[in-house]
Amino acid sequence: MLEKIKALQEEVEKAVASTKEEVEELRLKFISKKGSISQLFDDFKNVSPEQKKEVGQAINTLKNFALEKINSLKEAFENADSNNTGTDLSMPGEPLKLGTRHPLSLVKNEIIGIFGRLGFTVAEGPEIEDDWHVFSALNFPPEHPARDMQDTFFIEKNPDVLLRTHTSSVQIRVMERTQPPIRMIFPGRVFRNEAISARSHCIFHQIEGLYVDENVSFADLKQTLLQFAKELFGEGTQIRLRPSYFPFTEPSAEMDVSCSICGGKGCNVCKYSGWLEILGCGMVDPNVLEACNIDSKKYTGFAFGMGIERITMLRYGIKDIRHFFENDVRFLKQFESAM
Ligand code: PHE
Repeated sequence: MLEKIKALQEEVEKAVASTKEEVEELRLKFISKKGSISQLFDDFKNVSPEQKKEVGQAINTLKNFALEKINSLKEAFENADSNNTGTDLSMPGEPLKLGTRHPLSLVKNEIIGIFGRLGFTVAEGPEIEDDWHVFSALNFPPEHPARDMQDTFFIEKNPDVLLRTHTSSVQIRVMERTQPPIRMIFPGRVFRNEAISARSHCIFHQIEGLYVDENVSFADLKQTLLQFAKELFGEGTQIRLRPSYFPFTEPSAEMDVSCSICGGKGCNVCKYSGWLEILGCGMVDPNVLEACNIDSKKYTGFAFGMGIERITMLRYGIKDIRHFFENDVRFLKQFESAM
């Protein structure tokens, strides 16, 4: 009896199946009611009482072994049936690497947010402009150096077509088609024919602002810019306005903020002055309003403009403006957490 069991065990071990039907045949052969293993149970009656324990255990082991083998063969074919390619489709997928926002976009969006809360909406305009919108309507005298080839990129065949050197051109486009009240900011890319260095580039970004209405005063300008500086650089930030000159504003000023790095005590970023220059501003020159058919007797306005690169460099302690344009991922991915 024990030999018979051993022989069957070997047979089961060797059994192979290449189709589902063959697995079924094996099942019938070994473990169905009439199968050879079930027969062993019939023969078991004739085993002597002393051997019953040993033989019984051997038959049970064999039966379990056969069951397991047939089940695993069955499973293999069932998986193959459902077009399984050997890939576990329930596994979590490879995570897609998300890009990160460019530091200039982060700061631009933050500035748009601050002015948005102060009631300023956003307008954009073309990068390729004409002389009128970039210079003439903005009260630039004909001999102004900014009109020089050295500062502005002109289209060779037609010097009336040029790349805008500031987004003030968008102020003109808005004022030409809108009567006050106007309260807007103008973010965008600008171009100047400058040598590329750690501090300046021939392409950079600006955000300018314009507020035109009845009774807009210099005090409104100051208060708006103070609020902006506090939101961008922190509640304790102070501002300082120094007289300056722009053709399109009168009076004009340059604004400094107290150095956010040393808190005004003096460090190498603020060149030990405690102040950082961040923007130009002033009251819109009446000539500019008139050029856009806005009544300068009835309306006044203020304007300001700042470079986004400069503010971003201050914000993150970036020492070289060229990083912004090189698209080096090692640089760009450092701003992930700032999103
Ligand atoms: N357009 C000026 C520039 O590009 C900035 C500015 C805007 C200054 C508005 C005053 C008022 O330098």
